[in-house]
Amino acid sequence: MRRMTDAADWSQAADPARRIGQAIEFHAEIESTNDRARAALSEPGGEGLAVVADLQTAGRGRRGRTWISPAGANLLFSVAWRPIIALRMAGLLGGSAALAVRDACASLVPDAGLAIRWPNDVVDRTGRKVAGLLVETALESGELAEAVIGIGINVNWLPSEMPPEIGGSATSLQALLGAPIQRVPLLGSVLDALHAEVQALERGGTPLPRLRASSWLDGRQVEVDTGTGTIAGRAAGIADDGSLLLDAEVGRLALSVGEVARVYEAIPATVAQ
Ligand code: BTN
Repeated sequence: MRRMTDAADWSQAADPARRIGQAIEFHAEIESTNDRARAALSEPGGEGLAVVADLQTAGRGRRGRTWISPAGANLLFSVAWRPIIALRMAGLLGGSAALAVRDACASLVPDAGLAIRWPNDVVDRTGRKVAGLLVETALESGELAEAVIGIGINVNWLPSEMPPEIGGSATSLQALLGAPIQRVPLLGSVLDALHAEVQALERGGTPLPRLRASSWLDGRQVEVDTGTGTIAGRAAGIADDGSLLLDAEVGRLALSVGEVARVYEAIPATVAQ
């Protein structure tokens, strides 16, 4: 059974020693945690605040999609901060955050084969989506000035309860584990991992070897929606800047933006949640 939560519950996931997630702000209902985290950046102490919600009334996914999540079931949160990262590394921010989410979730379901599907979905070994990330950045004078990372993890939401357009291509930690999962400790471990990933990136480290090792798409035949059209090809890895390498009819392409619209293996239908 789902239990509604309050601010005191969620504050247990805060850690003042972290740069990201040193404090938690909880909302029983909010339009979008991404918008609130971005607004908090201009308030004293707002940088790094983790904004959590039981329900979003205007939750956003990538490429203008709506992010659907029933009240109290899943983990919905956003963090915003001013990254000290060279612009050429900005494309790896989403991948680093996806690794943090993957690692924290994999410690709960180690046998699920959790992997990252470019650009930054966390999927199980069959390609069913467990978590999605929405990364929104702002530049100032050609430098990365702000980053907002919104994370939605399907926690206690069974595929049988999902709307039909999602149910076939998504799963949840509860479904993978076979038992409900406590969201507050999960938030704490995602924030620990996110803090570590961001620190590593800011100190000049790269997530690339781990991103490449956890790339679910490699070797699969896919169709990528680039926003201006669709390109078919075989996924051939992740480039140094986080782009997807695609062996297409015209040769090898590096796609810095886009969305995998179709995978011709494992799950034949549209895979986007
Ligand atoms: C995607 O896969 O399309 C990205 C989904 C991101 C959803 C999260 S839920 C918390 C945060 N607030 C939002 O409005 N979106 C992100």
